[in-house]
Amino acid sequence: MKFLFGLALLIGLAASRPDDRSYLTYQMSPEIDSDEVGQFRGSKLTNCTCGTTNKASGRIVGGKETLPNEYPFMVGLGLVTPVRMVVDEILCGAALLTEYHAITAAHCTFLNHQVYLALTVGDHDQTNRNKPEYHRVYLVDKIIEHEGWNERTVEHDIAILVTKERMQLSQHARPICLPNRQPNIVGQHVKVAGWGKTAFQGHTSPVLLKVSLKVIDIKFCNEQYPHQLTTKTVPTQLCTYSYMRDSCQQDSGGPVFWADPESNRYTLVGIVSFGAGCASTMPGVNTDVYAYSDWIQETVNNNSPQAVATCAKIG
Ligand SMILES: *[C@@H]1O[C@H](CO)[C@@H](O)[C@H](O)[C@H]1NC(C)=O
Repeated sequence: MKFLFGLALLIGLAASRPDDRSYLTYQMSPEIDSDEVGQFRGSKLTNCTCGTTNKASGRIVGGKETLPNEYPFMVGLGLVTPVRMVVDEILCGAALLTEYHAITAAHCTFLNHQVYLALTVGDHDQTNRNKPEYHRVYLVDKIIEHEGWNERTVEHDIAILVTKERMQLSQHARPICLPNRQPNIVGQHVKVAGWGKTAFQGHTSPVLLKVSLKVIDIKFCNEQYPHQLTTKTVPTQLCTYSYMRDSCQQDSGGPVFWADPESNRYTLVGIVSFGAGCASTMPGVNTDVYAYSDWIQETVNNNSPQAVATCAKIG
């Protein structure tokens, strides 16, 4: 579900865009997608198991479809028929934080408080009715959007989902690591995964896709979306850019994740918010996760059926 406001904005601003396209000349270094990331320990440990991957041995070169369950933190937020517990449609992406919590964008949830939402965990191919044995569907019991969420300005686009039932963590369902400080990642690659539902084309991908993006200095997003980023001094948004034509296949609310070289684990640095349409040269605007660390911890602690903790790198 690509936020429509983003679409309107893209059209509205197309004419007034500054000519400075210097961010386009950022050299794309080869995509880091080795089989080691998220598998072996780095020089620093994490305080619980997070940000791991499941990959077959051998490098994946230029692959856009993920391997099934490659990112065990990746979950779909979907409309569900409660009795059958079958997800009818994936609306947005989300990432696992704990046994009871997932994180997504507020624009994915704020119009969906009156419907049954569920997390589809360990999912890959939406059309496959013969799900792997590790696939689970958990009903969302509670949605907490950031108090400052503003649908007009698309600020504070972050929400936490609490499940009714304790989610079973395993190799196939693992939390993502949260950043324990603001990572300095401008110019570095991050990834987004999603089932690719967009308002631009209105179709979804049956299988989970991934795309590599580059983190761009926030000032480029400020220039491209002048009315959008009102918080120019507080880094609550993360600007990304991709020259790949299919960057629209990223899914709103889904995780923007970075392979922290110290922990060798995938760390949640952003949540897909708006922008970056299909074949667009507009940068993507994501919620900066570290900027909301206190809110995330408070929300998790105050809305948990049992005591649970998020995971982060130690030190
Ligand atoms: C891990 O560390 C983070 C802070 O960096 C903390 O919020 C979290 O509760 C810790 N988790 C565990 C399991 O100790």
